[in-house]
Amino acid sequence: MATTTLYEAIGGASTFRKLVDAFYDRVAQDELLRPLFPPTFDEVKARQYWFLTQLFGGPRLYTERRGHPMLRARHLRFPITVRHAKHWLRCMAEAMEETGIPPAARDAMLERLGAIALHMVNTPGEEGEA
Ligand code: HEM
Repeated sequence: MATTTLYEAIGGASTFRKLVDAFYDRVAQDELLRPLFPPTFDEVKARQYWFLTQLFGGPRLYTERRGHPMLRARHLRFPITVRHAKHWLRCMAEAMEETGIPPAARDAMLERLGAIALHMVNTPGEEGEA
């Protein structure tokens, strides 16, 4: 029986490009996240596009170009708190809505990304912060 990946189901490369653009437009406006990123987003956009494509069942673009993802290690040079993870996920949820990804696919993707985002947390937050 033929199986369809989530990547194909939501429209493949063009959907993932739109998603990544919409996501970094939001990151660029987010006062907590913006300072962690370099002045221009071109490189990180390309890498995120490769990564998300691969994560959701598309071609293994990230591993072909960057090797093993080792995402937690690659994020260690940035102090990431639970608050950062929440902002990241909110930007992503809004970007998915703007891109027109259907709710069921959106939920499945956010569940996966939510776990990864929490795994990136490497710094305790302020006192009293969730
Ligand atoms: C939890 C909050 C997160 C923060 C604050 C954050 C922040 C960052 C920053 C600052 C960079 C580097 C930009 C540069 O090149 O200078 C980066 C790279 C990257 N992030 Fe995140 N990130 C977060 C979560 C995630 C999650 C959940 C994913 C997985 C979908 C992810 C995937 C990536 C990828 C693939 C790269 C490029 C890695 C490379 O090849 O160098 N990040 N992130």
